[in-house]
Amino acid sequence: MKRAGGSPTVALNAKGIRMREEGIDILSFAAGEPDFDTPEPVKAAAIEAIRQNRTHYTSAAGTLPLRRRIVRKLREENGIDAVEDGIIVTPGAKPALIHAIMSFLEEGDECMVLTPAYPSYRSGILMAGADFVPVPLSFDSGFTVTRGMLEEKVSPRSKMLIICSPCNPTGHVLTEAEIRDIADFVLEHDLLLLSDEIYEKLVYDGRQHYSFAAIPELRDRVITLNGLSKSAAMTGWRLGYSASSPELARVMLKMQQNTLNCTASFTQDAAVTAFDCTKETEAMRLSYLKRRDLICDGLDAIPAITCPRAEGAFYAFFRIDWKGMSSEELADYILEKARLLVVPGTAFGEGGEKCIRMSFATDTASLQTAVERLGQIFA
Ligand SMILES: Cc1ncc(COP(=O)(O)O)c(C=O)c1O
Repeated sequence: MKRAGGSPTVALNAKGIRMREEGIDILSFAAGEPDFDTPEPVKAAAIEAIRQNRTHYTSAAGTLPLRRRIVRKLREENGIDAVEDGIIVTPGAKPALIHAIMSFLEEGDECMVLTPAYPSYRSGILMAGADFVPVPLSFDSGFTVTRGMLEEKVSPRSKMLIICSPCNPTGHVLTEAEIRDIADFVLEHDLLLLSDEIYEKLVYDGRQHYSFAAIPELRDRVITLNGLSKSAAMTGWRLGYSASSPELARVMLKMQQNTLNCTASFTQDAAVTAFDCTKETEAMRLSYLKRRDLICDGLDAIPAITCPRAEGAFYAFFRIDWKGMSSEELADYILEKARLLVVPGTAFGEGGEKCIRMSFATDTASLQTAVERLGQIFA
């Protein structure tokens, strides 16, 4: 635990809440959560489940109807040959991530992570006693990954690779060619692949999301992570899952049995309904798309700022060239001068230097204000 960090985004979000409670008028763009309400049919299903007294333990892996619904989703939407015994339902995607890391990594192992990356990957790897090996991608090349970059960091101790596409924080969506290169690399070096696909529904401009587990040769070495937090605006419900071979799932299930026991029973019932809310998810995506254009194009027009349009997820990840300031200095400057709470790019590791992350899952008026204020302080 001494080696692990806290979550910088969770901490910043708490700072924003505290400042507001103290009466300081700030706008926060730090949190990574949808600003939509959970769709009504999902709420109704949960209320009905509670009325029906579905409030007891479920099996640790999750209820059969939900695991069957997830199998159908993975087969129909992702082309994954999923099976019920490979699914573990968890309270949010984060426990699935931690269970996978704790189950398969130990002291002496190395885990490669493309950075900038979601900070909990690093903390989880260090909590398991393993070594975190960043593979830094570059802002200038649109955070694309090449086989050469991976080969440079691999070693005989490499055990696992963690990939997130669409990516939090960069917004990069892996292309089919990148996926193929990574798949070949994973096979050649006999690695496990953790594929975090929590933002899969949020891709823009005709891009397509590809799942690694759909590649037949990789099937037994991929753990797919996903959940309803982002796609169905259900962050507080806590509903995620891992999908893998039954052999890997059997190991991870021990983590769940000995820690969380199971995911809340009525949340699981409601989740079955949430998987059918495709219209609602698409409406959210279209709304994010409009807001992406507003913030990314607005910021990119400011001379000191370079802000490419996010390809997926709901974050603007941009570089500011201003008086040689580091990303932490920039975030402090922005908070002090513009009263905007943003996340420094280096909170996500190497490759985030001079960058800032802002969530655009925020109301349009606040985004507009942010563009105006940043235009003023970086004029
Ligand atoms: C890349 C990534 N993976 C996993 C998670 C965790 O999601 P959950 O809230 O379902 O635990 C998040 C949440 O911000 C995320 O951004």
